Amino acid sequence: MEEFEVLDRLEEIKGLIDIKLEKVIDEQSVIYGDVARIAGEVVLAGGKRLRPILIMLAYDLAGGENENEIIPLALSSEFIHSATLVHDDINDEASTRRGHQTIHSKFGLAKGIIAGDYLFSQGFGLGGRYDQEVVEVIAHYCSKLASSEFTQIDHILDLSTSPEDYLEIVRGKTAGPFAAGCKGAAMVAGASQKLCDSLFDFGMELGIAFQLVDDLLDIRGDDRMGKPRGADLYEGKMTLPIIHALTILHGKQRERLSEILHEFEDSLFDELISLLEFALSLRYSEILIANHLERALSKLEDFDDSEAKQLLKHVVHVVKTRNS
Ligand code: IPE
Ligand code: IPE
Ligand code: MG
Ligand code: MG
Ligand code: MG
Repeated sequence: MEEFEVLDRLEEIKGLIDIKLEKVIDEQSVIYGDVARIAGEVVLAGGKRLRPILIMLAYDLAGGENENEIIPLALSSEFIHSATLVHDDINDEASTRRGHQTIHSKFGLAKGIIAGDYLFSQGFGLGGRYDQEVVEVIAHYCSKLASSEFTQIDHILDLSTSPEDYLEIVRGKTAGPFAAGCKGAAMVAGASQKLCDSLFDFGMELGIAFQLVDDLLDIRGDDRMGKPRGADLYEGKMTLPIIHALTILHGKQRERLSEILHEFEDSLFDELISLLEFALSLRYSEILIANHLERALSKLEDFDDSEAKQLLKHVVHVVKTRNS
């Protein structure tokens, strides 16, 4: 496939997901009223649809042939993901998401919490119709997402947080759901245990890289993200560039870094970035991203060449170069 054909096909899959999401949300709004409409607006506000796209492609790669069989799982992933975003924005005190005002900042905390709960229940409704083994994989990794978010809170401004602590959190909060989605899709397709495991590993590696990129964007991203830059810094979140710089810098520079982390504000961005650059910490994250993406690509080599494989390779490339 030529590159333009790859892009067209990915757009087509995203378009299909968008149409299906819109239809479900329209139907729900008639039944559940405002909560469905307000929660639905977040879902329909945009988003890259990366999780449902991965599920559709993993199903195809694993030999699945009936698109209708996998669509509810793909939609379920986007509802659950959107639910975690609505709650994440409460936890992170974020005012914008997908370029719009967040639910809690517009309608208050209680409605934000309820809207998130509502999106979770819609996700369960769509995903709960699969075989027990599939539902268990998805439910397990959603639970791990919650436990990792707890651990992350316990590490706020803990300057002794290690890269291993960080990676454990990232596996739980972001990469696990990617991995579970890819594996779940392969299970629905009826693939062998070995191929299900390869897709699980693919999702895990891609998901780790995805969060590493997200954390770099929090430091040096721009308006294209549709969410505020620096949210992690205001929150005191220990992301990898920060953890790395804390181990590399010493003396006055480390003291200053610690001060900046404790009293972060926008005017300190430039100084923080020069400290991170001096310690080569942004570069360190970039190298790790490249390593995890290489490992993700190597997992695809367990599969014969196909259109789905080519599309997944492109998704890996998009994760590396994304700015939103
Ligand atoms: C944001 O996910 C939350 C993270 C795991 C970093 P996305 O960057 O996939 O958000 P949308 O769906 O495109 O808005
Ligand atoms: C991902 O982490 C959170 C979830 C798993 C929901 P972030 O807190 O970094 O996500 P963003 O940057 O707000 O999208
Ligand atoms: Mg968060
Ligand atoms: Mg957040
Ligand atoms: Mg982030």
